[in-house]
Amino acid sequence: MRRPIVVGNWKMNGRRASVDHLIAGLRAVGGVDVAVCPPAIFIRQVVEGLGGKGIGVGAQDVSLYEQDGAYTGEVSASMLSDAGCSYVIVGHSERRALCGETDEDVARKFANALRAGLCPILCVGETLEEREQGVTESVVARQLDAVLGVSGVAAFERALIAYEPVWAIGTGRTATPEQAQQVHAFIRARLAAHDAGVASRARIQYGGSMKPENAAELMAMPDIDGGLIGGASLKAEDFMAICAAAGGAA
Ligand code: PGA
Repeated sequence: MRRPIVVGNWKMNGRRASVDHLIAGLRAVGGVDVAVCPPAIFIRQVVEGLGGKGIGVGAQDVSLYEQDGAYTGEVSASMLSDAGCSYVIVGHSERRALCGETDEDVARKFANALRAGLCPILCVGETLEEREQGVTESVVARQLDAVLGVSGVAAFERALIAYEPVWAIGTGRTATPEQAQQVHAFIRARLAAHDAGVASRARIQYGGSMKPENAAELMAMPDIDGGLIGGASLKAEDFMAICAAAGGAA
């Protein structure tokens, strides 16, 4: 049985005071792993503020460069680990679209994260145009294969996948449980073609306008093992309600 995991992606939101306020409303939930990914500048504040609550902390991105050195503005995987992170999101569609991250970049970041002992959360997903063209599966396969090619299938014992249809992110337009399940099953089958055992244990989260009202039905699907939550993770009450729904699906 896979243990569900709910991760909050705060994106570029917050100030020190609002971060303290949000931290105060978070607590561990039985039967489910919980983590939050604040902007890098707030990571220490969150690690210290959540101390003892049993909630993990992650980053939203990591440098392509592994070793310390002349990389102005970059934050390495090893620095994230040193700061108290256990997770890092890689390949979020906003970074692919706005920062030009390629599948190869994402695969390198994923590998750097693993080597630093972090659990990468690999985001994959199609745009609306790609869905309408009927190429959802080939897009997701390409994104997944880039990482499989560099890190191998066994990496998914220590990593997470988040299926995030781009058209559902921040739009209020959630994938139906059936639409999401179809892609989750496809991802698991793709892993199973390499190693059926790893595939059966790999955790695949859904992301894209998940909220308290739709979390339970999404997470009731057989291949949906939790959520990556953007907007709704900025309200402690909503985020906790989603975590409770995941606990109920466990
Ligand atoms: P959303 O974002 O929940 O606001 O749609 C999800 C994400 O981008 O991870």
